[in-house]
Amino acid sequence: MQISGSVALVTGANRGLGLAFAGELVRRGAARVYGAARDPGTVTEPGVQPVALDITDGDQVERAAAQCADVSLLVNNAGVLRYSTFTSAPDLDAARQEMETNYFGTLRMCRAFASVLAAAGGGAIVNMLSITSFFTNPFNASYGASKAAEWSLTNGVRLELHHQGTLVVAVHAGFIDTEMAALTDAPKISPESVAGQVFDAVEAGQVEVLADERSRDVKAKLSRDHELIYPPIQEFWDAAVSGTS
Ligand SMILES: NC(=O)c1ccc[n+]([C@@H]2O[C@H](COP(=O)([O-])OP(=O)(O)OC[C@H]3O[C@@H](n4cnc5c(N)ncnc54)[C@H](OP(=O)(O)O)[C@@H]3O)[C@@H](O)[C@H]2O)c1
Repeated sequence: MQISGSVALVTGANRGLGLAFAGELVRRGAARVYGAARDPGTVTEPGVQPVALDITDGDQVERAAAQCADVSLLVNNAGVLRYSTFTSAPDLDAARQEMETNYFGTLRMCRAFASVLAAAGGGAIVNMLSITSFFTNPFNASYGASKAAEWSLTNGVRLELHHQGTLVVAVHAGFIDTEMAALTDAPKISPESVAGQVFDAVEAGQVEVLADERSRDVKAKLSRDHELIYPPIQEFWDAAVSGTS
């Protein structure tokens, strides 16, 4: 599908990557860009129409689908990262919030907008996943679980909506230069680069975007993950818990 003339909705459009997605859609000539945010007053990008939407709230999701019934491109960008481990986190709060937002929130959006996209002739869904969909890292363990679940959801929704011609794009990236990755000094890709690659993929009909070298490298190593991916993570984690790193 072409971005020019499309009607798009971006979740979490007020900041970070969502802001870059919304700006790029405007630049590429989308006919309308709905910028969804928990506080619509924080959506200030020129050309973007604010919509109130907390993706963990089923009523708000249904309302957004009714209010934005002309959408042909849904960008499920909103997400949360709590940097929580499985076994030493004090409780399940972080794991639940990540799963409720990243997995159930995206699932709610796909369900609510499936018929909207069908009415638009198929359209497209972009799900913003992560390199952590592919492997577990104790530094963001429960986030990884939620992104792995969201990856599975993305592959399933693609199969389920194929008959109505909906393109479903999975986007994986390592660190992106936003507030979410502010804690690390590791190399980061720019949100503008991710947005550009994603909409090029939508226009080309591609189902997957591996947005940076790290994502491409990890995906290529998946069949040998216990030899190539986990040992260095284990070494780093053991050093961290023993206080030597
Ligand atoms: N940054 C990275 O390194 C990185 C790497 C790979 C993938 N990702 C993914 O990229 C996406 C965007 O992340 P980002 O880097 O832009 O993070 P960010 O700067 O922390 O922004 C997160 C966005 O999601 C919104 N959000 C959170 N919970 C929400 C909810 N329940 N309902 C609606 N909106 C909600 C936030 O809204 P508020 O302003 O209201 O909090 C904000 O707009 C996420 O899915 C993230 O997992 C990020």
